[in-house]
Amino acid sequence: MFGIDFPIFAFTHCRDVAAAVTNAGGLGVLGAVAHTPEQLEVDLKWIADQTKGRPFGVDLLMPRKYVGAEAGGFDSTSLKSMVPNEHRQWLDELLERYGVPELPAAGDEREGRGMAGLRIDPKGMAPLIDVAFHHRVALIASALGSPPRWLVDKAHAKGIPVAALAGRLDHAIAHKEAGADLIIAQGTEGGGHTGEIATMVLVPQVVDAVAPTPVLAAGGIANGRQMAAALALGAEGVWCGSVWLTTHEAETTPVIREKFLAATSADTRRSRSLTGKPARMLRSAWTDAWDEPDAPTPLGMPLQSMLIAEAQRRIHRVAHQPDSTARPLVTYFVGQVVGQMNVPSSARDVVREMVDQCIDAMERMNLALTAEPVPSSAENR
Ligand SMILES: Cc1cc2nc3c(=O)[nH]c(=O)nc-3n(C[C@H](O)[C@H](O)[C@H](O)COP(=O)(O)O)c2cc1C
Repeated sequence: MFGIDFPIFAFTHCRDVAAAVTNAGGLGVLGAVAHTPEQLEVDLKWIADQTKGRPFGVDLLMPRKYVGAEAGGFDSTSLKSMVPNEHRQWLDELLERYGVPELPAAGDEREGRGMAGLRIDPKGMAPLIDVAFHHRVALIASALGSPPRWLVDKAHAKGIPVAALAGRLDHAIAHKEAGADLIIAQGTEGGGHTGEIATMVLVPQVVDAVAPTPVLAAGGIANGRQMAAALALGAEGVWCGSVWLTTHEAETTPVIREKFLAATSADTRRSRSLTGKPARMLRSAWTDAWDEPDAPTPLGMPLQSMLIAEAQRRIHRVAHQPDSTARPLVTYFVGQVVGQMNVPSSARDVVREMVDQCIDAMERMNLALTAEPVPSSAENR
């Protein structure tokens, strides 16, 4: 379908990771939800230059449900007025508790890593899609809802396959009916927005239900044994997000990286505190605070990201400073595989090791079933 060497798809917000995975024989998919059309143009041109004709894709969030959806979109001024003061006050107090300073008066908007500017309404998305099509992406993926008809038609007219992420069987079936050419079955283990069903349970059900539409397995896959397991479950390949976050190429700040390298698989939480929808992220003082009994209920998407955008910028701006009191608040999307991400490496090495280990695992599985039985110790005697 894509002319790639290995069925390894890399979801990433970082163009360097996308290009590196494509060049290593997989397929890099750039998450464009926080891009402006101008930034996306620059990044896709850069990836195309680096990958010299090899395939890469683009991913967008297309939520079916969000605040303003019924009105067919929204303008940010009217949305801002919907953020309750009670939420703002609670957040201010949280930042004060951790001694997080205000942004400098003439603050650089790009400073720090924020969650603002999620482009999730259809009006904001169309220009991004035009840019993606202009660069002849090999794949367009959508999450949080079925791809809209107009997108499927437009993509198919250009011969571009459409993929859609599903955390539940009914969602996978709806995506197929909406015209998706590839279903990504993502288990709850995964980083980012995620449902409640485990990959091991979800993937075979989705494979059976949408056949002959191909399925990629996502969530909890970061090495070759997990890849072999995904293939054993009936998936045609794997879609990985977390494993790239500790590669040399990744966008993660040194503080996030350090926290990831030290974390165990018990250190993630599914929390609505960053985007308003449940997403898996590193447990930190931030997620704990939102879980406290006196914490306000997170707002819907995209109000929650609007509420917390500046707070996140303030935290990330100072978290790297020695003895920063803001550091415990730092969190970022990551899945349970964070517990096996203990050594930084290059994205290319991740792909190579995954392939080698997958082949070894498959050979071992074959031998386990086909090898001559070893005489038991009783017979040997
Ligand atoms: C940092 C991060 C951000 C993510 N953002 C998105 C996104 O914008 N769109 C999307 O379709 N999936 C997003 N995801 C989910 C990935 O596409 C993927 O399904 C998931 O990471 C797979 O599970 P894994 O983290 O165990 O590899 C994100 C994942 C991570 C780790």
